[in-house]
Amino acid sequence: MKKTADVDHPIRNLLAVRWSPYVFSEQPVPAADLRSLFEAARWAPSSYNEQPWRFIVGRRGQGDTHGRILECLAEPNRKWAYKAPVLVLGTVVREFVSNGNPNKAAEHDLGLAVGSLLVEATARGLRVHQMIGLDPDAARRAFSIPMNAEALTAIAIGYADKTGGDDPALAERDATPRERRPISEFVFGDRFGESAGL
Ligand SMILES: Cc1cc2nc3c(=O)[nH]c(=O)nc-3n(C[C@H](O)[C@H](O)[C@H](O)COP(=O)(O)O)c2cc1C
Repeated sequence: MKKTADVDHPIRNLLAVRWSPYVFSEQPVPAADLRSLFEAARWAPSSYNEQPWRFIVGRRGQGDTHGRILECLAEPNRKWAYKAPVLVLGTVVREFVSNGNPNKAAEHDLGLAVGSLLVEATARGLRVHQMIGLDPDAARRAFSIPMNAEALTAIAIGYADKTGGDDPALAERDATPRERRPISEFVFGDRFGESAGL
């Protein structure tokens, strides 16, 4: 399975080997690893140090939170995410706690926190697959999410099933090499759309 990034320029191995599996093994994630993942998220930078991220964590086989998160997912995501031993809802608080003003950076900063979580997870041999395909209203009802907050993403965490599992279509997705546009297409110089020529 060739998932390591085929890089044009050298990067840290930790970044190159991260990828988002569809076929998770059912091996549980130790609680100590989970704590470290959220510790990594905790120390992410955020606008005004507001830390607008809030996470709801469900562990397969422990209570019903995992199942209730699963029910909030879009059907195509449910088909593979049910196996992940940990499902998380990534939520944002859209207002500053101190004054109720809108926080324009809330989604950005949730992404940063999850970015740190991803790096920590990869270092521990864990894999993470994020999902925008969820019903935020269902999540609001299921978890009493207040109106100034919103479930933005779901996050599956666990170990990739190297056997490929029992769904050939999912196994094929996991066997497909990862692709990216070259930096000349998104790093601009004189004007938007014109490569910086780095
Ligand atoms: C914010 C976000 C939302 C995503 N939503 C979904 C999703 O709903 N369903 C899905 O199968 N993959 C989803 N993905 C995974 C992306 O498709 C995946 O990261 C991308 O194809 C690159 O693959 P890689 O992570 O293996 O490099 C999402 C990723 C991110 C960062």
